[in-house]
Amino acid sequence: MFDTIKTKYRRNPVFHAVLLSGFALISAVLLIIGNQLTAESIELRRIEDLQFSLGQVIPADLHDNDLWSDTRTLKDADGTGTTYHLARRGGEVTAAAFEQTTAGYSGLIRLLIGVDREGKILGVRVLAHTETPGLGDKIDHAKNDWILGFDDKSLTDPTEAGWKVKKDGGVFDQFSGATITPRAVVKAIHQGLILFASQKDRLLAPGKEGTS
Ligand SMILES: Cc1cc2nc3c(=O)[nH]c(=O)nc-3n(C[C@H](O)[C@H](O)[C@H](O)COP(=O)(O)O)c2cc1C
Repeated sequence: MFDTIKTKYRRNPVFHAVLLSGFALISAVLLIIGNQLTAESIELRRIEDLQFSLGQVIPADLHDNDLWSDTRTLKDADGTGTTYHLARRGGEVTAAAFEQTTAGYSGLIRLLIGVDREGKILGVRVLAHTETPGLGDKIDHAKNDWILGFDDKSLTDPTEAGWKVKKDGGVFDQFSGATITPRAVVKAIHQGLILFASQKDRLLAPGKEGTS
């Protein structure tokens, strides 16, 4: 009799639907738990990476403050905000570092750009990307020195026409067989410099250290 009931359930499509939903629910709960357990360590890693990169794009002799905690967020023209990490020496702002995000070949590329008071680039580092290993990933300083080619550049050096990869008539190298990634990075850094120039006066005005 037990066998008959088992066979009856097995043939019932509602039984299979309920079973499938049960498995889906258990998987979803496990995923949520997994996410919550790892979220904190992922965030810690993100902060460590950013702190390390801040030290790479702003030279140590330009500041005596804590770059990580001394920030100012300014509204952009489109209403979004850009957070700047400020470098200060003796209280005066000497440099700033900020993030720019752009679409690469296969996903978003997060950049950290360090500039001095005049808007000259002190350093650029890629904080995150999903570009193809061996092709687009040469933007990562751990793989290639290409990103160092932006050091000392500014909005006037090169001029606007030069802010492109060589293939498009500009001054920056592309990678062989991979122009999309470097093209996107060059454009994002140029736009970052334009943004900095538009906010520079507000940003560099004297103010208290800390988050504002
Ligand atoms: C599997 C695969 C992965 C690729 N990954 C990248 C990449 O990460 N970055 C990139 O710029 N181009 C990548 N490319 C090449 C682009 O499709 C495109 O051909 C190239 O960027 C154009 O550069 P070129 O004008 O120098 O040929 C990839 C192509 C293939 C087939």
